[in-house]
Amino acid sequence: MPRSGREVILGIGGGIAAYKACDLLRRLQDAGFLVTVVPTPAALNFVGSATWEALSGRRVYSQVWENVPDVAHVALAEKANYILIAPATADLIARLAHGRADDLLTNVVLASDVPKILVPAMHPNMWRNQATQANVTTLRSRGFHIIDPDIGRLTGPDSGVGRFPETGRILKEFYELIGYLDDLKGKRILVTAGGTREAIDPVRYIGNRSSGKQGFAIAQAAIARGAEVHLIAANCNLPDIPGVAMTSVESASELERALAREFPSADALIMCAAVADARPVQTSDRKIKKEFLTEISLVANPDLLASLKASKKPGQRIIGFAAETQDLESNATVKLTGKGLDLIYVNDVSQGAIFGSDFTSGIIIDKTGPLLTLDNVSKDTLAHVLLDQLLRQIG
Ligand code: C5P
Repeated sequence: MPRSGREVILGIGGGIAAYKACDLLRRLQDAGFLVTVVPTPAALNFVGSATWEALSGRRVYSQVWENVPDVAHVALAEKANYILIAPATADLIARLAHGRADDLLTNVVLASDVPKILVPAMHPNMWRNQATQANVTTLRSRGFHIIDPDIGRLTGPDSGVGRFPETGRILKEFYELIGYLDDLKGKRILVTAGGTREAIDPVRYIGNRSSGKQGFAIAQAAIARGAEVHLIAANCNLPDIPGVAMTSVESASELERALAREFPSADALIMCAAVADARPVQTSDRKIKKEFLTEISLVANPDLLASLKASKKPGQRIIGFAAETQDLESNATVKLTGKGLDLIYVNDVSQGAIFGSDFTSGIIIDKTGPLLTLDNVSKDTLAHVLLDQLLRQIG
């Protein structure tokens, strides 16, 4: 299977700004990146492994002599899509410029061919020193991207050039470098979220456990990447997303009408909503007395995706979702074909709760077969990975 496209190695050099990289790690995760932290041994004097492991949810090593059977430097280098080193100290920059491999991070950098971005932070005298400047020039000439340090207050009483930039600036430059900002500009993305409710009477309904979190995460990710986003939300108790146009629906037939209105002008539909398979044949407009509530006759709801298949225009893309407990791949492939989908994400619900959780495990499948397997990633990450795959298809 190919790399997820969102694996970042966050290298931490041994400077006081290491504590600010905790926030950077969090913001990268919010943007759907999967982050492995590789601190230098010196960096652990400022922020310890426990903090990095707790924040990243992944094991943290700093030496090649730890975790030897996994050959960690090669495994990490092969998995990574980007290496971001923040803070990069004068010593780390010098070691990188000389091709040294005396800790895990420098080994990973040497073994990897992906974009490498450095965020230097140090005292102004060290930054301006000819040796550091020569090393930075060498690294630039070898394709490293250097995010210039800020000018401002330093750790001690003095100030000058060498301050670790604010997280927002690092992310902005990082996103620009990797072409992530606004990569969905000009695209109209329609997302459905939540679960439909089919009224029995004014009080009771047939519903399901879908929280809407996944659909909201997709709408949030798409708007952050510059798309025009319309979200059709079925019974979601979640805050509005600034900039996202929203339609609230309750039942499958309301969802069907909203889709008929919005789908024709969309470049892509991401159909996260869990549609009730059936609805009561009749809805009582008065509360049914409990002694008469012994039987409810049902009629099947139409398959909304399957009905959209006929009206799909060339160039439009549809992503569907499935929840399965077994034979994930074969069951999802049948749905992909039957519903005329371009991609399907099949949730592995065999381990219990996905509904309402912030995490998900499953497989992304297209007409050629399985593309990616995701293991316990955040719904934000899945949102971005799906948008990456969509972008690959719509160009
Ligand atoms: O058939 P199943 O319900 O497992 O398929 C799930 C996918 O089909 C989801 O994307 C869901 O939104 C969509 N669906 C639909 N109409 C239905 C049932 C499901 O569009 N009646």
